[in-house]
Amino acid sequence: MSKIIFSIETSCDETSVAILNEQSEILSHLNYTQKDHKIHGGVVPEIASRAHLQILQKIIPISLKKAKLRMKDIDIFCATCGPGLIGGLLVGSSVAKSMAIAQKKPFFPINHLEAHILSPGFKFNMKFPNLTVLLTGGHTQLYYVEGITKYILIGETVDDAIGESFDKVAKLLNLKFPGGPEIEKIAKFGDENKFNIPHPFKSKKNLNFSFSGIKTAINLIVKKRKLVDYDFKKNLAASFQKKVADIIEQKIIYALEFLNEKNKKIVDISVVGGVAANKKIKKRLINLCKKNNFRLIYPQNEFCGDNAAMIAKVCIEHNKFNFNSDIDFRPDPRLKILNSIKI
Ligand code: KG4
Ligand code: ZN
Repeated sequence: MSKIIFSIETSCDETSVAILNEQSEILSHLNYTQKDHKIHGGVVPEIASRAHLQILQKIIPISLKKAKLRMKDIDIFCATCGPGLIGGLLVGSSVAKSMAIAQKKPFFPINHLEAHILSPGFKFNMKFPNLTVLLTGGHTQLYYVEGITKYILIGETVDDAIGESFDKVAKLLNLKFPGGPEIEKIAKFGDENKFNIPHPFKSKKNLNFSFSGIKTAINLIVKKRKLVDYDFKKNLAASFQKKVADIIEQKIIYALEFLNEKNKKIVDISVVGGVAANKKIKKRLINLCKKNNFRLIYPQNEFCGDNAAMIAKVCIEHNKFNFNSDIDFRPDPRLKILNSIKI
């Protein structure tokens, strides 16, 4: 009989639970974006932890009901144990561990970044090795993925994460939080060549990213203006978004050259994380992949942002390798991916 997996994701401001079977079919998936942070213009960790606890208590019984299952029908429990905000990680993992203990079932700690990396698996048959471009609110990384559990980090941001830069630029433009979707919305109507935004590490063949200089440059442009009107905002948003797409595109080209020099072949390019929901960026990457004869894989929009289904997916994949249950695992805000190495 197919095993049933129950998962919890609480690493930031999404409270999410999912129930999947061993074939990765989603039996129920409830995803709740906490609203209390909007007025603060960013996620407040203490508010997030308290909200996770309240929301989990409400959505866990609903998730079981939707899947037409009872707690005793669950075979495996898992939860995000890092990286992320420690309060949220403690809440989510403690709840999942308590359920596992009560049901005398195993508990598996899951790495949030690995979950993003495997998230295209709901839409595509993932083939390895691949080059994964991970674009979230907390991370911007390039991985050479040899296979499940074999992740080689080849580049990352040296300062702000890409999603963080969308959020910060949105704040400078008086747009709502989270800023990524807001910037995308108004950028559609703007002139992307209106402003000259800096391109960090442009001339160097460097696989690392930097976004803090862009934020400072935009801050200076905004400060020079007396009137921050809609035309100004949409043009600046479009110019910023274009520059971000240029940067990602260039890093992928460098990464392909780097992997080629090292004789490391890839079959796919994968883009994952909250920022992967951006249509403009995705379109640029689809074109780039076409030109270079690669397939671009990515999660459906609902699996780009944080969600518990992708957490269960990692658990399912790990179980194929007979991982051990680890009820004593301590959540870690800076948790590294298992077996990940930096070259
Ligand atoms: O992966 P994610 O949900 O959470 C983390 O693991 O950090 O990513 C959240 C980030 C936020 O910074 C948000 O502004 C950004 O993803 N984001 C976007 C879009 N949708 C979400 N950025 C650009 N364009 C979007 N459409
Ligand atoms: Zn995430």
